[in-house]
Amino acid sequence: MQVLKDKAATTPISPTLLCAPMAGVTNSAFRRLLADFGGYSAIYTELLAGRQMVHEDAGKSPYIKRRAEEGKVIYQLLLTGQDSIPRIMDHLLPLNPAAIDINCGCGGKYVRQAGGGVALFENRGNLAKVIKDVRREYAGLLMLKIRLGREVPDWQKPFLERIRIIEDSGADVITLHPRFAGQHMKRGAKHELFSWLADNTRLPVIANGDILGPATIARNPRHFEKTAGIMVGRMAIICPWLFAAWDNPGLKVDHLKTWLRFYDYLLEDFGEKDALGPLKLFTKYYAQNYAFGHILYTATRSAPTVQALREQAIRFMSAQPAMTEPPTLPVIY
Ligand SMILES: Cc1cc2nc3c(=O)[nH]c(=O)nc-3n(C[C@H](O)[C@H](O)[C@H](O)COP(=O)(O)O)c2cc1C
Repeated sequence: MQVLKDKAATTPISPTLLCAPMAGVTNSAFRRLLADFGGYSAIYTELLAGRQMVHEDAGKSPYIKRRAEEGKVIYQLLLTGQDSIPRIMDHLLPLNPAAIDINCGCGGKYVRQAGGGVALFENRGNLAKVIKDVRREYAGLLMLKIRLGREVPDWQKPFLERIRIIEDSGADVITLHPRFAGQHMKRGAKHELFSWLADNTRLPVIANGDILGPATIARNPRHFEKTAGIMVGRMAIICPWLFAAWDNPGLKVDHLKTWLRFYDYLLEDFGEKDALGPLKLFTKYYAQNYAFGHILYTATRSAPTVQALREQAIRFMSAQPAMTEPPTLPVIY
């Protein structure tokens, strides 16, 4: 990766290719699948509600448990300013996180109403408090994942105010998903803003949003030349081998075998009943590998059990269906 800059040299993650935090996806089973392929620098957990996390069994919960082969795992927290940080850290630090990430970009209703995600980014007092509270208890790498804030005229001014707060409160790294708070995945991510942010902060900046692989960077290298790393979300669900293939584009993959291995991993960590939701979500994205993937998606969407879903998936994938080359992001999210 040529996107590493001096600023990144201070971080222990290098070279920096990150699998994004994704609720419903980056559980222990998915992290295990990704680890089979390797090639990433670190992988995130799903967004973990600080308050609930303290009740999870760290050895069993598929949200927080980790296997040695996963390598560096970054734990992402939903914090609101109302949390007992020392208690959360007591629970979290024995898991030896590679970094802790505070979510400041999620716009989901539950997260916003709790005062986390984009609501935390908006609330300057709580933003400073949360970062300082975590910093007091945690000496490791402290990261924040942000969007651009509210889409208002001259949004750059309130945005940069928050960047100053983030720096002054003790964070180490910023990941930018350059879309506005209410935009979800609509319109394109504004890649030109990575350099702009890097020019306006002393912190390393990690680039995220609509990055499909090395080709995205090759198309516009100057947008990425000041960034400290690359974070990929949805494309890593579609191609869990994406990071392994980053420098090895000829990598051969058996799509059905990979899907079946993930099925086994999910069942092992979640049990049959709870595996159904994550399996459907994974398959929705995985279907993007196929020219007629919507048939797989539609067939599996309403499957009543994991076994029924497995049968549909085997039927579809073993019929040598036409592939998409290269796959793209889904239109439905
Ligand atoms: C299914 C799904 C779940 C997500 N959950 C989270 C989350 O828990 N925390 C977070 O910060 N972002 C979450 N995101 C956003 C991603 O981390 C990432 O910022 C976004 O997908 C843009 O990157 P991409 O274009 O590479 O997918 C989620 C995205 C998806 C598709």
